[in-house]
Amino acid sequence: MSDTTNTPIEPASVVVVSGGSRGLGLAIVEDILAQGAKVAAFARTVTPELQALADANPERVLAASVDATDAKAVAAFVKEAETRLGPVDGLVNNAAMGQDSLHIHTSPEQISALIETNLVAPLLLARTVIRRMMAKGKRGRVVMVTSVCAQRGYSGLVAYGATKGGLDSAMRALAREMHGRVLVNSVAPGFFASEMSSVLGQTQLDTITRRTPSGRLVEPENIVPVVNMLLFQDTNLNGQVITVDGGNSI
Ligand SMILES: NC(=O)c1ccc[n+]([C@@H]2O[C@H](COP(=O)([O-])OP(=O)(O)OC[C@H]3O[C@@H](n4cnc5c(N)ncnc54)[C@H](OP(=O)(O)O)[C@@H]3O)[C@@H](O)[C@H]2O)c1
Repeated sequence: MSDTTNTPIEPASVVVVSGGSRGLGLAIVEDILAQGAKVAAFARTVTPELQALADANPERVLAASVDATDAKAVAAFVKEAETRLGPVDGLVNNAAMGQDSLHIHTSPEQISALIETNLVAPLLLARTVIRRMMAKGKRGRVVMVTSVCAQRGYSGLVAYGATKGGLDSAMRALAREMHGRVLVNSVAPGFFASEMSSVLGQTQLDTITRRTPSGRLVEPENIVPVVNMLLFQDTNLNGQVITVDGGNSI
């Protein structure tokens, strides 16, 4: 790609959020709306919370039931977002599935499903969104939601950690490929309470808290401002992984 520019990239105005139905994704959708931008969010199930946002803001929110592993449905959703909300210039690749099984007890099918959902699907979504941006002559911003599991070894998260590490690597290469037309970064949270992490018991939560220098667990409210910065502020951050874990991994 030869097109470079030394002007800042505008704040995102239309952002696609995968997995925007609950947990961190829903909090990101709410924040994008509060920022005044438009948002197109999908998950396999549209929750009442996401539907309520769409009903209350029909001009600014598109919500739909789409499986991230269905590339055709995802491409159709991105096109619909463009038609309904305007050219897309932001993406938060947030949808993922969790894992809680030792590698030797994880079936080949589970490993494939983790890779399809957490690595192949976000790569295809980024490809689709960036191709649309370029077709519309837009510059933009892409945020990958990865995990501290990509940087440190955690028992029970072998395939999951591999997908998040793969996404961090892809993020860096993509940032270089896009050559200033698209800023691409990752946010890597530590453990936070959600449906995905509900498998952890109180003893494990206490251990994580004890090992976290800030003395408290991460909450979606701690991660949302970092995503906001990457979507809307002029920081010139590019190709970086920003870890939000209270210092647990240092
Ligand atoms: N919770 C943690 O401790 C933690 C720590 C580090 C990183 N993360 C990362 O943070 C992000 C958000 O996690 P969370 O804890 O908020 O998880 P969550 O509450 O389980 O939410 C996951 C979201 O992704 C959607 N999703 C999952 N599979 C999908 C598919 N095939 N197609 C479309 N949507 C799909 C879910 O909706 P449907 O199920 O209806 O499709 C939901 O909206 C993930 O990338 C996760 O890996 C989480």
